[in-house]
Amino acid sequence: MTTDLNDLFTLLRFASVSTDSNHNADTRAAAVWLTDKLNSIGLQAALHETARHPVVIAKNKHIAGRRTVLLYGHYDVQPAEPFSEWRTPPFEPTIVGDRIWCRGATDNKGQLMAHVAGLKKTLGEHGDLPVNLICLFEGEEEIGSPNLKPFLEAHRQELKCDVVAISDTGMVAAGQGTFTYGLRGVACCEIIARGPTIDLHSGIWGGAVANPVTMLARLVASFHDADGKVQVAGFYDDVRPLAEWERTEWRKLGETEAETKQITGAPELFGEKGFTELERRWARPTAEVNGIGGGWQGEGSKTVIAKESFVKFSFRLVPDQHPDDIIKKVTAHVQQHQPPGVRFEVKLGHTGFPYLMDPTSPLGLAAQNALVKTFGDKPALIREGGSIPIVQTFKDVLGVDTLLLGLALPDCAAHAPNENFPIANFETGIILNQNLLRELAR
Ligand code: BES
Ligand code: ZN
Repeated sequence: MTTDLNDLFTLLRFASVSTDSNHNADTRAAAVWLTDKLNSIGLQAALHETARHPVVIAKNKHIAGRRTVLLYGHYDVQPAEPFSEWRTPPFEPTIVGDRIWCRGATDNKGQLMAHVAGLKKTLGEHGDLPVNLICLFEGEEEIGSPNLKPFLEAHRQELKCDVVAISDTGMVAAGQGTFTYGLRGVACCEIIARGPTIDLHSGIWGGAVANPVTMLARLVASFHDADGKVQVAGFYDDVRPLAEWERTEWRKLGETEAETKQITGAPELFGEKGFTELERRWARPTAEVNGIGGGWQGEGSKTVIAKESFVKFSFRLVPDQHPDDIIKKVTAHVQQHQPPGVRFEVKLGHTGFPYLMDPTSPLGLAAQNALVKTFGDKPALIREGGSIPIVQTFKDVLGVDTLLLGLALPDCAAHAPNENFPIANFETGIILNQNLLRELAR
């Protein structure tokens, strides 16, 4: 095994699940290890405390007149549950076939470490990098980066840069360089339905009171029409329509529905009428239930009316929707659908803005040149449906665009059991990092 792969394996073994406080020590250990690693390759790295998980910053010696590039990544991961679905241990990186299987392999440790290995290689070959570099690796991306905005605001001067680059998105296919110029935003909330003050015998009391699970199910059903169009009043008001050039670019990707059916295993695709599958995922907002519960979840039946139930929603947003505005509209929708027998409460979760940049800007073109050098062909120009909440904040606080050069494949199973990352993508990512810094230096 190469030392670069060995380093990636070391980082993967830290179960840095940011949402779970039981994993705080693992998350911190990942940050400490990364700091040491960055120091060992010749950068000046330091760990910075935040209210929760630390931020790792590393720099080379900055020289006046050179371009400053901020490389962002995240060392935290999503929970690995359900464990029983994993074919290999979730936090023990395992090579099967030509891929590495582990939580975080693709999102984002594999992509982050490809950059680190690229930096190491360039530093080894030339003793320096062609640009002024700032690495910013955080541990809260998967929980909406709550402490990173204040961190950026407090370190505006030290983090001053010309551009941000990130590998935390996807490629449309293996070997096909992909430049992502837009991301969806996100607004999360939980809705709780409370009925009687105690759980009730469903025979004794059933028929006399509203059932919080039934009432919540009705509310959930009210969010969409039969075709999947969101029914929250005003939800689509601020949606910026797709530009014609985007439609043209995306059509070049050909028919995608068969592949999506194959990867997801869904028996049929479903969604808003009048848009292609890619348009629905990349440029249309959605309302998704991520979890729902209430009442008896154990084996067999239990004749009970639960006193409460809950549902967790995330809304994916596109330019120019505003997360706060969407939460306001959702709250109004919930109040309008409040039946007399239960009380709904909306609890706000994390939010992030959508992002859109001009891929024909000089820096956008430089990044695409790096993709051409690395992959050969002209890169695909796409938006993506996932969110990296800090990207728009980089624009707002530091005033710079972000170049998204992803290395994940559609079947890498990010956030799911059996997450994986092709070794080839890790290795190409190392070359991409070198080409990117070279192109941005011009
Ligand atoms: N790497 C993803 C974002 C992503 C994935 C962008 C695929 C484009 C394509 C990132 O780690 C992520 O999962 N973000 C979360 C953010 C949320 C928790 C605030 C997301 O999109 O759900
Ligand atoms: Zn993620």
